[in-house]
Amino acid sequence: MRLYDDLADLWPIISPPEEYIPDAFLWRNVILERLEPACFSDGRRPRLLELGCGGGHLLSHLTAHFDAEAVDLSPRMLELSRNLNPTTVHHLGDMRTIRLDRRFDVVAIYDAVNYMLDEADLRAAIATAVHHLNPGGLLLLAPDCLRDSFRGPRVIDWTRHDRQRDVTFIEYTADPNPADTTIESVFLFIINRDGEITVEQDRHTSGLFPKSTWLTLLEAAGFDAEYLETEGYDGEIGGHLFVGTRRAGP
Ligand SMILES: C[S@@+](CC[C@H](N)C(=O)[O-])C[C@H]1O[C@@H](n2cnc3c(N)ncnc32)[C@H](O)[C@@H]1O
Repeated sequence: MRLYDDLADLWPIISPPEEYIPDAFLWRNVILERLEPACFSDGRRPRLLELGCGGGHLLSHLTAHFDAEAVDLSPRMLELSRNLNPTTVHHLGDMRTIRLDRRFDVVAIYDAVNYMLDEADLRAAIATAVHHLNPGGLLLLAPDCLRDSFRGPRVIDWTRHDRQRDVTFIEYTADPNPADTTIESVFLFIINRDGEITVEQDRHTSGLFPKSTWLTLLEAAGFDAEYLETEGYDGEIGGHLFVGTRRAGP
C-alpha cells in the first residue's frame, strides 16, 4: 500500500494528529471505566500496546496517560510515529503474529484492524491481544465499517494543507463481491505544491464483517465483549468500537 510506503509523508497532512483528540478522549474514558483499580494503584500508569499504530496520531494523545508500546508493519509509518512519540517503544511486526515477552493492561487496534481481511486474520489479531493481555485486561477494536451498515459505492473527499502543499484526498469504496469479507478502496491524492499539481493513486483492500462476527470471535477468544456506537466521521466512516474484557482463566 503506497500510503504506508512511498506516500507515507502524506499521512500527517490528510489525517492530522489533532483530528484524533475526540477518539483518544473517548478511548481513555472507556478504558478508565473498565480497568481494575490495581492498574492505577501507587501512581502506576496502565500499560498499553497499540497494534497497527500507523503515524502514531491516536497514540500521541494517549502517551501522557499510559506506558505505551506500539507495533506496525510499515517501517515508514513507524518512523512517523517514533518522531511524534519519542518516549514510546516501537516494534516492526505483524499484528497477527508478533509476540513480545511482556504483558499489558490494554491492547488497542484502531483503524489498522480494517486490514484483517478474513476471519482467520481477525482470529490471529485477537490471539495476539490475548497473548499480551493480563487477565482483566482490555482489547479495543475500531473497524471503519460493519457489514450491517455499509452501503457502497461510497465517495468521500477532503482537502488539508501543510506549509508546502494542499492535498485533496478522494476515496472511492465499493463491495465488488458481497459474498466475501472484503471491500475495495481507490485513493486519489491531488497534490498542489505552489501551483504545480500532481496526482497519485493507491488501492486498499479492507475487511468487512457483521457486528455478530466481531462479538462471537471476541467471546470465543475468552473476552466478555461489548459493542459501543461512537461518533464516526463524514457520516460514513467509523463510529464502531468493540471492547473485550479478558476473562480470568482459559
Ligand atoms: C490507517 S493507518 C493507522 C493510522 C493510525 N491510527 C494513526 O493514528 O496514525 C493503518 C496502519 O495499519 C498498518 N497495518 C496494516 N496491516 C498490518 C498488520 N498486519 N500488522 C501491523 N500493522 C498493520 C499499516 O502499516 C498502517 O500503518
